[in-house]
Amino acid sequence: MPDLLVRTWPGKWLKGYAITVLDNLSPQIHGENPDEDSGLFKSIKDQVTFVKGSVTEKNDWLKVLTDQDVIVHYAAATGTGQSMYEVENYTNVNILGTAIMLDLLTNVKHNIKKW
Ligand SMILES: NC(=O)c1ccc[n+]([C@@H]2O[C@H](COP(=O)([O-])OP(=O)(O)OC[C@H]3O[C@@H](n4cnc5c(N)ncnc54)[C@H](O)[C@@H]3O)[C@@H](O)[C@H]2O)c1
Repeated sequence: MPDLLVRTWPGKWLKGYAITVLDNLSPQIHGENPDEDSGLFKSIKDQVTFVKGSVTEKNDWLKVLTDQDVIVHYAAATGTGQSMYEVENYTNVNILGTAIMLDLLTNVKHNIKKW
């Protein structure tokens, strides 16, 4: 079975893959207690390898990156209005987070075929 690293919530089209999810369970999206509050988290937590971590942390990427075949990267800070006054935070998550992934894909040994 191919291995797939997904940051976002896997849908039916992902059937047939062994799925790993990296997500920081942002309270803004999943509530303060995701085990109770987040329908999204509850719907997938028993079906995937879930790693709580941030795309802004190189070590969190390294925990999940090796031995995957495909990365689907949708991790994002998504408050459009908020992005106007939390510019540094939004830039870190949405730009630096992706840059760290690309840096690791360029410089670390891995099996990723597609992202
Ligand atoms: N929903 C749509 O219809 C749609 C359409 C087109 C593009 N997009 C884009 O897809 C991306 C995701 O959108 P969404 O609707 O799934 O947003 P969402 O807010 O529902 O999900 C974002 C996810 O990212 C996680 N996250 C936030 N910061 C993180 C971090 N530092 N590290 C790891 N995980 C983190 C959150 O916990 C959440 O699970 C965005 O870039 C959005 O613009 C969404």
